[in-house]
Amino acid sequence: MKKFIALGASVVVESGAGAGASIADEDYRAMGAEVVADGAANGANIVLGIQGPETDLLAGANPGAWVVAGLDPFGKRERVDAYAAAGLEAMAMEFMPRITRAQSMDILSSQSNLAGYKAVIVAADLYGRAFPMMMTAAGTVSAAKAFIMGVGVAGLQAIATARRLGAQVSATDVRSATKEQIQSLGAKPIFVESVAGIEGEGAGGYATEMSPEYQKAQAELVSSHIAKQDIVITTALIPGRPAPRLITDAQIATMKPGSVIFDLAVASGGNVEGSLPDEVVVKHGVKIVGYSNPTTHLAADASALFSRNLYNFLSAFWDKEAGKPVLDEEIGNAIRLTQGGKVVNERLLG
Ligand code: NAI
Repeated sequence: MKKFIALGASVVVESGAGAGASIADEDYRAMGAEVVADGAANGANIVLGIQGPETDLLAGANPGAWVVAGLDPFGKRERVDAYAAAGLEAMAMEFMPRITRAQSMDILSSQSNLAGYKAVIVAADLYGRAFPMMMTAAGTVSAAKAFIMGVGVAGLQAIATARRLGAQVSATDVRSATKEQIQSLGAKPIFVESVAGIEGEGAGGYATEMSPEYQKAQAELVSSHIAKQDIVITTALIPGRPAPRLITDAQIATMKPGSVIFDLAVASGGNVEGSLPDEVVVKHGVKIVGYSNPTTHLAADASALFSRNLYNFLSAFWDKEAGKPVLDEEIGNAIRLTQGGKVVNERLLG
């Protein structure tokens, strides 16, 4: 907020916006913002949010105002149409391209990193045993075996966190580039060798849906590995598609009772059969857990990093003379959903 004010903006905050992250209205006032009970968008040129606000909350915003947030463009397509009809310019932060200069603006990275950490902490808490090996006078406690499925930003942090806690860690992904990353974190790569996966990073850094042949080979590999695991963290996502199903109920039945599975993809349909958002489901003695919005469980850090992403984005394009941000084509075309009353983003039109 201080930094936006330094750019010359005046800032209005919705009352209670920071409560979940332990930031009081008074703290915002002390930094020079105005705090209002409702109608916060009145007269705004730029509306910043975590998730997208509904259009009725934006009725007072200026014509052509920007709405900058995680807008869930595929899941909330009707709301995107409503932004267009209301003459707003919607900027979907989750469509930020995976290019080096946009790394500091990438909300998916900053939030996934925290989610990967929290998943391991929650799994460790639900697990009725210790993570590290302990040699005590009363006997030896063996190290927990943790398996991370999907080694993007969240998966890498999950590996690092589980290792720090002393678990024996293995991990898998469909992108071959992750093999080295897994090894460099001291974990063991478990990869399908019989059918080709995705060479290198995949388009834009992302995975695609795999062939039925690959899925079958992956299921066989997972079946033989998972029965020996105590902790499984799944993080696999495919942009614009439901999350791939990686673990079936039959596979869960082979795990030891007391094991814990954390499904970080639960809000996108789930990697694990039977996982439910924000519930601990017990199947075959295995606890299955998943959060609909994992980073709300680390709200202060999530807020700080998210707001820094928004600031890095807007300040990088801030045009002093115009007194507003002016986007370049590469980033503008990637994240702009609506303009001039129309939906303009290729990924939504295609
Ligand atoms: P994501 O959240 O879309 O997916 C998580 C992981 O699941 C990915 O590694 C993906 O390959 C994997 N996955 C998908 N389907 C799977 C399946 N069937 N089985 C096993 N694993 C599966 O990915 P995320 O975390 O957003 O990042 C992916 C990559 O993007 C990163 O590793 C990085 O290379 C790149 N990246 C680049 C950035 C930049 O340059 N600005 C910023 C962030 C990420």
